Amino acid sequence: KVKTITNICCIGAGYVGGPTMAVIAQKCPHIKVTVVDVNEQRIADWNDADLNKLPIYEPGLADVVAEARGRNLFFSTDVDQAIDEAQMIFISVNTPTKTYGVGKGMAADLKYIELCARQIAKVSKDDKIIVEKSTLPVRTAEALSTILNSTGNGANFDILSSPEFLAEGTAISDLQKPDRILIGGDETEKGQSAIKSLVAVYENWVPRENIITTRVWSSELSKLTANAFLAQRVSSINAISALCEKTGADVDEISRAIGADSRIGSKFLKSSVGFGGSCFQKDILNLVYLCRHFNLPEVADYWEQVIKMNDYQKHRFAKNIIDTLFNTVSGKKIAFLGWAFKKDTNDTRESAAIYVAKELLEDRAEIHIYDPKVSKEQIFADLKSVCHPEGSEATKDLFKNVIVHKDPYTAMQSAHAIAILTEWDEFKTYDWNKVYDEMLKPAFLFDGRNVVSNEELEKIGFQVYNIGKG
Ligand code: UDX
Ligand code: UDX
Ligand code: ADP
Repeated sequence: KVKTITNICCIGAGYVGGPTMAVIAQKCPHIKVTVVDVNEQRIADWNDADLNKLPIYEPGLADVVAEARGRNLFFSTDVDQAIDEAQMIFISVNTPTKTYGVGKGMAADLKYIELCARQIAKVSKDDKIIVEKSTLPVRTAEALSTILNSTGNGANFDILSSPEFLAEGTAISDLQKPDRILIGGDETEKGQSAIKSLVAVYENWVPRENIITTRVWSSELSKLTANAFLAQRVSSINAISALCEKTGADVDEISRAIGADSRIGSKFLKSSVGFGGSCFQKDILNLVYLCRHFNLPEVADYWEQVIKMNDYQKHRFAKNIIDTLFNTVSGKKIAFLGWAFKKDTNDTRESAAIYVAKELLEDRAEIHIYDPKVSKEQIFADLKSVCHPEGSEATKDLFKNVIVHKDPYTAMQSAHAIAILTEWDEFKTYDWNKVYDEMLKPAFLFDGRNVVSNEELEKIGFQVYNIGKG
């Protein structure tokens, strides 16, 4: 028999858990949805009456939260109570790459997942369906099941894998109109009935033919594969961008030409300073680790190349700035437009901007940063994590050489060069004549996203460098 779900709990109120649960609550007014987190500040921000204070910026999110919060959507730090009440528990905690021990720098760190599993096992008094939402290495569901079902409380757990495919910046529309929902479960009768319970939740707004059900391992591996393919497309077009710069071809023309082939498709072919975000690198490293573990070194090397190409692209961009500025940026003012890993998000995890800044700082540049949504605190935290250990002499230099601006024009005033790191739409609308007048000459502009118009800027007098334009 299929359990009808009326109470859902989600552990983890981050970029995945928050928006996903907000949309489930919006679309299913008959289901009580409680999102819990151990981070008290985060929960307070989700509950803030001022919707501008939500902990994550995502177009359309505030409206969805306004509609559902207090009705059937709740944010709380009382993890135990929410677990106890729920029939279905989503796990959306962070799964960073391990920074220590076995698999350091490669494997996913499952300690947060394991803590969740132990807490669920301890608290639960009745049977529950557990849904893995975080991206996890293949066979995590099995580990979860082992922990959950070995605690003798008498409660029974069914584990489903239902990876989320939303992209940041478009999370709300991705959630409201997903290309597909993927649900993996056991082939047993129990497993199949758990799948049906979750299908019924999604059927409130997703057509049944867009809900794909598979066995658990296929679902887990599909998520890693999807992200690896997407990242590979970006690395592939970026590899071609380097060749374009040498030969005089134009990478945007190439994207259009190859994208018209329906077998290739037009999306995700935008050459850039390099991909970022919390998923691509982590998931590929995970895939590579998995392949090595199963003694498939050729397969591992193949996928690892996607990351190497991305590192090369970030490095190439920084090096081009230094080379063009007469082989040194020491003491020169470089203005950064954008810090987020893509537009329409305040997320900076693995953003290319961080790595480009690091290289320029090592060459002693002075960096002036403007991003419409990223806070100063976040920028310094990002730089500290890649540049210098806390408290060292060099950290002081860091604060001296990095200035975060609230106004783009002051960031660009008397700069030696401007670098565009994120494709925010507002960059297209700036008064570039004014920027030019207030800059040092020659006025160099390095467009890492090909967002501003070359022709127009060159007419003003800028010396523009693009990605993939010879
Ligand atoms: C290819 C290009 O498709 C075509 O646009 C170009 O003009 C010439 O090269 P072709 O080699 O004739 O055409 O056939 P194609 O259908 O592309 O298949 C090439 C090979 O890939 C075949 O051996 C095919 O079996 C294999 N293949 C193709 C797969 O193994 N899996 C697939 O999903 C697709
Ligand atoms: C990605 C996947 O798209 C999503 O399905 C998965 O659930 C999580 O990981 P996200 O990282 O939020 O989503 O954003 P995405 O739009 O995929 O962009 C990732 C990075 O690739 C960004 O830095 C973006 O700027 C870059 N990118 C993307 C390009 O450089 N060129 C492109 O054509 C597309
Ligand atoms: P993602 O992008 O995967 O959503 P985030 O880091 O944005 O990742 O969100 C993960 C959230 O999970 C964080 O807010 C973190 O505090 C929370 N979290 C981690 N472990 C636990 C736990 N054991 N119980 C409750 N919340 C947790």
